[in-house]
Amino acid sequence: MIISYFHCIMVTMKKFYIETQGCQMNKSDTERMSGMLSSMGLVATCEEKEADLLIINTCSIRQLAEDKAFSKLGVWGKLKKNRPEIKIGICGCVAQVKSDEIKRRAPYVDLIFGTHNISELPELVKKLSDDERIVSVTNTPYKCSEDYPINRDKSVNAWIPITEGCNNFCTYCVVPFTRGRERSRSMDEIIKETKNALNEGFKEITLLGQNVDSYGKDFNDGKSTLANLLRELNKIEGKFRLRFVTSYPSDITDDLIKAVSECEKVCKYFHIPMQSGNSEILKAMNRRYNRQEYGEIIKKIRNTFDDVCITSDFIAGFPGETEDQFKDTLSAIDEFELDYSNTAAYSPRPNTKAAKMTDLFLSEEIKSERLARLNDCNKKAVQHSNQKCIGKIYEVLVESIDENDGVLTARTEGNKIVHIKSNKYKIGDFINVKITGANVWCLFGEIV
Ligand code: SAH
Ligand code: SF4
Ligand code: F3S
Repeated sequence: MIISYFHCIMVTMKKFYIETQGCQMNKSDTERMSGMLSSMGLVATCEEKEADLLIINTCSIRQLAEDKAFSKLGVWGKLKKNRPEIKIGICGCVAQVKSDEIKRRAPYVDLIFGTHNISELPELVKKLSDDERIVSVTNTPYKCSEDYPINRDKSVNAWIPITEGCNNFCTYCVVPFTRGRERSRSMDEIIKETKNALNEGFKEITLLGQNVDSYGKDFNDGKSTLANLLRELNKIEGKFRLRFVTSYPSDITDDLIKAVSECEKVCKYFHIPMQSGNSEILKAMNRRYNRQEYGEIIKKIRNTFDDVCITSDFIAGFPGETEDQFKDTLSAIDEFELDYSNTAAYSPRPNTKAAKMTDLFLSEEIKSERLARLNDCNKKAVQHSNQKCIGKIYEVLVESIDENDGVLTARTEGNKIVHIKSNKYKIGDFINVKITGANVWCLFGEIV
């Protein structure tokens, strides 16, 4: 009796739509969820209005990201008024830390599942019914025995998670609460997944983790390190690129820098968020390095490579940040010649230590004024970095083609976008180009 009822729900639910917010980790989770739902016989759709099952994969890194999730739920709630048979699901980082609030604010949601419960999705979907809300949010990862296919986004790049979670507890950051403690995947599993992606035609593999450079610490075997993983992946035959994000500054070892320089498939590119250029603020953020130590790591990398791109992240207006301390961030961008930085104004997050420093909070005006200056400084740094490329020859990977005007969009090893006029090449080709011009957002090149 019950079985036939579940069956009935599944039969009426044919198309699914997943909206992904947040970082690449969420993108990767979505690709896995899409694979699971497809193997259950559901069909992916890009049209929200025609979906029977709508899932939002959410981000909680800043308040704005969380607001975006709730506002999308609101839109879907209205959709459900006209089509009461549709099912609405929410997962990801907001679902992990705010399931009670979701239950209260969005009573029309049918399914809430946390970041640790992604692989439980097929079972949860089978349980969906018209009169009961399903909630699965656990504090430890749910283990799933089945190997589901991954519906990767159609592009040249495949995201492959190598670690999940974080043990660092930076005082501003919600990630340790949304993703749990750091866990590494086995080298064998990562190598297998990389080979599968290459067989599917992907030309670039990006290894993902909140701190990729602490990969393997939990195995405690001395061999499972990011450097050794890169060496193993570099041995796989064929023409492709390897990247890794994100690096924690003081976890970058000499051996990792050596591996990047030895392995021809690994892009000469490092994303090393500094967060603040001031040592006192770094301490208050619970970052395990100071300005001088960050500078030494950058110097070591720049001394190893002729041409290397180093990008970063910065937060403006951390609680208690003085004008002089903020200026240290601006000067760090210049001093370390950072090629590009992601920027954000500080946003208090649930459970975090900094969110309790309310007496030190800066006003929204100060934070947004500092963010504007930070963006301005970053823009100048990017312009400077792009100008330095003019006249140089780079190998680029073609990502898209505009058939109308015959312009290729390709990416350098250093993660810079290049536009090239040519109608000879196709997506996935590696070509050598000479950079002939630059603006803030991209480079222009010609085939050599
Ligand atoms: N693991 C990476 C960063 C992951 S989060 C690292 O350690 O650097 C991505 C970025 O979001 C961070 O680098 C930080 O700059 C920003 N961020 C995180 N929490 C934030 C907050 N509460 N307010 C504003 N920006 C934040
Ligand atoms: Fe967040 Fe810090 Fe972990 Fe990065 S290292 S994910 S900023 S706690
Ligand atoms: Fe956001 Fe979660 Fe990623 S909080 S940045 S989606 S790990």
